[in-house]
Amino acid sequence: MSNIKTDIKQEEIKIDNIYCDNCLNFMQNMEADYIDLVVTSPPYDDLRDYNGYLFNYSQIAKQLYRIIKPGGVVVWVVGDKIKKGNKTLTSFRHALAFQEVGFNVHDTMIYKKKNTPFMRSNAYTNCFEFMFIFSKGSPKTFNPLKEKTVRSGMEMLVHNKKSDGINKKILGRLNEEKTKTNIWEYAVGLGGTTNDKIAFNHPAVFPERLAQDHILSWSNEGDLIFDPMCGSGTTCKMALINKRHYLGCDISEEYVNIAKTRIDTYKNKGIQLPIFN
Ligand SMILES: C[S@@+](CC[C@H](N)C(=O)[O-])C[C@H]1O[C@@H](n2cnc3c(N)ncnc32)[C@H](O)[C@@H]1O
Repeated sequence: MSNIKTDIKQEEIKIDNIYCDNCLNFMQNMEADYIDLVVTSPPYDDLRDYNGYLFNYSQIAKQLYRIIKPGGVVVWVVGDKIKKGNKTLTSFRHALAFQEVGFNVHDTMIYKKKNTPFMRSNAYTNCFEFMFIFSKGSPKTFNPLKEKTVRSGMEMLVHNKKSDGINKKILGRLNEEKTKTNIWEYAVGLGGTTNDKIAFNHPAVFPERLAQDHILSWSNEGDLIFDPMCGSGTTCKMALINKRHYLGCDISEEYVNIAKTRIDTYKNKGIQLPIFN
């Protein structure tokens, strides 16, 4: 790890840029109430995957609460590992830490992976991670994503189900689309997560579509999106594509270089939409 500048002051921070720093240092020098939305995924459990960098999630939660605007949202994507047959519950520990520093746990969403390999002989195949939605007060922006309904038009609909178990039916309208549920499913791997081969030099890239769906849901054009642990730069790239400003930070110079190359390639090639599932 070389050339890491660990004391980047607010006046040195240029938006639409990615910095190499410990995110705790980086945020400590940031103004309060500065960021509209954070979409990030922390390192969890197996720190060796990330070259052993230390990770203090309680302090990070505290700083995120300070720098996010009132009504701003932090999307925190995290899963649990299994150690000696025991789930670590790291995700729950993180959620409680965020609640303790003042965030509302606005939602506990699920990121379901479409193509997961069979992992354990004595348990069901794990196919999800949590996407916690932490908000500073009530979210100031919510643009609900919609999905097509199977049927639409006028139909006799089940109206009520009382304890006697008898369903009443009334004539009602089914809309052509409805707000999505809080379980989102994505294909993973090349072509699913992203088309950018270089991104896979990072061990834990999340899908471009996941980042985009949160950016569209919880922010508007022109807003400032921050990923304090940006890895291969997925959030930053999707913020750029969706006409938001971005700031990225990662402790690893190697990953910052991947993220920068990815963004530059995108900028040079023009709009190249990611593959969606
Ligand atoms: C799960 S990965 C993020 C992957 C990213 N969402 C993507 O799509 O590529 C977590 C990242 O956190 C970084 N990291 C770990 N500790 C950090 C810290 N204290 N400050 C900044 N980055 C950190 C690691 O280098 C790693 O790239």
